[in-house]
Amino acid sequence: MTGEYVAAIDQGTTSSRCLVFDRAGEIVSVAQREHRQHFPRPGWVEHDAEEIWDNVRIVVREALDAAGTGPERIAAVGITNQRETTVVWDRATGRPVARAVVWQDTRTGPQLRALAEAYGEQRLCERTGLRLATYFAGPKLRWLLDNVDGLRARAERGEVLFGTMDSWLIWKLTGRHVTDVTNASRTMLMGLDTLDWDPELLDALGVPAAMLPEIRSSAEVYGTAVDGPLAGVPVASALGDQQAALFGQTCFQPGEAKCTYGTGSFLLLNTGASPVISSHGLLTTLAYRIEGQPAVYALEGAIAVTGSLVQWLRDNLGLISTAAEVEELARTVDDNGGCYVVPAFSGLFAPHWRSDARGVVAGLTGYITKGHLARAALEASAWQTREVVDAMNADSDVALRRLRVDGGMTANGLLMQFLADVLDVPVVRSRITETTCLGAAYAAGLAVGFWPDLATLRAQWRSDAQWTAAMAPDERDRELRQWRKAVQRTLDWVD
Ligand code: G3P
Repeated sequence: MTGEYVAAIDQGTTSSRCLVFDRAGEIVSVAQREHRQHFPRPGWVEHDAEEIWDNVRIVVREALDAAGTGPERIAAVGITNQRETTVVWDRATGRPVARAVVWQDTRTGPQLRALAEAYGEQRLCERTGLRLATYFAGPKLRWLLDNVDGLRARAERGEVLFGTMDSWLIWKLTGRHVTDVTNASRTMLMGLDTLDWDPELLDALGVPAAMLPEIRSSAEVYGTAVDGPLAGVPVASALGDQQAALFGQTCFQPGEAKCTYGTGSFLLLNTGASPVISSHGLLTTLAYRIEGQPAVYALEGAIAVTGSLVQWLRDNLGLISTAAEVEELARTVDDNGGCYVVPAFSGLFAPHWRSDARGVVAGLTGYITKGHLARAALEASAWQTREVVDAMNADSDVALRRLRVDGGMTANGLLMQFLADVLDVPVVRSRITETTCLGAAYAAGLAVGFWPDLATLRAQWRSDAQWTAAMAPDERDRELRQWRKAVQRTLDWVD
C-alpha cells in the first residue's frame, strides 16, 4: 500500500464535500460546494444528480490541490452519502433519466397504504427493519418507474440502472454498479438477514431486478477511479452518512451510540452481529460490514428536523441572521417561559412515525419573547433526542450510559448542556466533528491496509468537551410532561 493520505467524499443533502485525512486521522484539507434544492410541488424535494457529480469532481480537485497532492499520494477514497435519495440513470449514456427523489420527499404517501395492504406492515418491518414511511428509497423508485415514460420497459431490459448516491458516484468514478449494505438497508428492498435483494419485496414494489446494483460490504475495493483528479485511486468504502459517523466515532462495540446533529439528527446504537427489531418505533439498520467479516447492525432513531428548525427561525421568521446567533438569542432569557416548539414540519419520524403530524408552538402567553422561542427551538432538539433514547433503552437490555455527539449543532454549548440535562447522561463531543467523512476515510483506509485494524482507529478517538446533567430530577420530569403534551397536540392536529 502506498500513499500518505486517504480522501473521503461526503455527498450530503445540501452540499458535496471532499476531505483529505492523514494517517493520524487529522484533517489536511476540506472543499465544499452546495447544490440546488428543487421543490416542484408541496412535499416534493428533488436533486439534479448530474449537478451533484459535477460538484463532486470540483470539490475533489479543490481538496487535493489544497492538500498539495495529486492522486499518487492518495491511498484510497471512501464515499459517504445522504441516504435513501433515489437516482435512475441510463446505462449507455450515463445520464439521469429524471431528477433524483430526495429522502425528505413525501410523494409516495398514497402508495404506502397500498403496499401495507398488499404486503402487511408488520411483515415489512420485520423483513426490512424499516417503518412504513415516505422516507425510504424503494417506493421512490417505484414512483419513478410508474411516472417516467417508458422507464419500466427499459428497466426490465437492463437499459437503466438504479442507485442511491453512493452507487451513482461509484459508477461514475469506476464504471462498477454496486452499493453497500448500509445504503441497501434503506431501500425497503433488501432482506435484513440475507443482505441481498429480496424477490418478494421486489415483487411487492414492482422493481425489476435487472436495474439493481450488487450489494457489497462497506469496506472493500469496488474498483479504481478511471480518470479525473482521482485517476488510479482505489474506491474502497461506501457508507450511508449516519453509519459513517458511527464508524468515525469508532462505536465498534455493541452498546456504543452516537448522535449526529445536522439538518435532522440521527442516533445510532451498535447492536452487534444480529439485528434487533424495535418494538418502540426505531429502525433496524446495517451499521457496517467489513469485507470477510460478519455484518454489524444498529438501532436508529431518525429525527427529521433539528438544525433545519434553526434555519427556519433564520429564513422564515427572520429572528436571527446566522444559525450560530440562535445561542446568543436563547441566552437572553433564563428559561423557555413555558413555551414549546415541536417541529413536525413533514410529520414526525422516530419514535412516532406519523407523517400526518403538523408542527406546533405551544404555551404562548404575552410574556413570550423571541429569546424564549429561540430557547424552545433548541430545547426541541434535546427533547426529540430524549424520546429516541427512551425508545432505545426500552428496546435494549442495557440503558445508554453516555452519548457521543458530533455535527454542526454540537458547537452550541447551551444546547449540549440542555441535552445532558434532559438525558441525564454525560454528552461527549468528538474532537473531530467531521465524523461522517472520517468514518468513510477510516473504512477505505482499512480496506487497503492504510490502517491495520479497528483498535488503531479507536486509539485515535479523542473528545474535546463533555457536559454532565445539572438539572434537578423534578424539573426534568415536569418539563418532559410539558413536552409530551406539546407533541400530543401535533398528533391531534389532523382531523
Ligand atoms: O437519512 C437521511 C440522512 O442520511 C441525511 O443526512 O446529513 O445529508 O442531511 P444529511
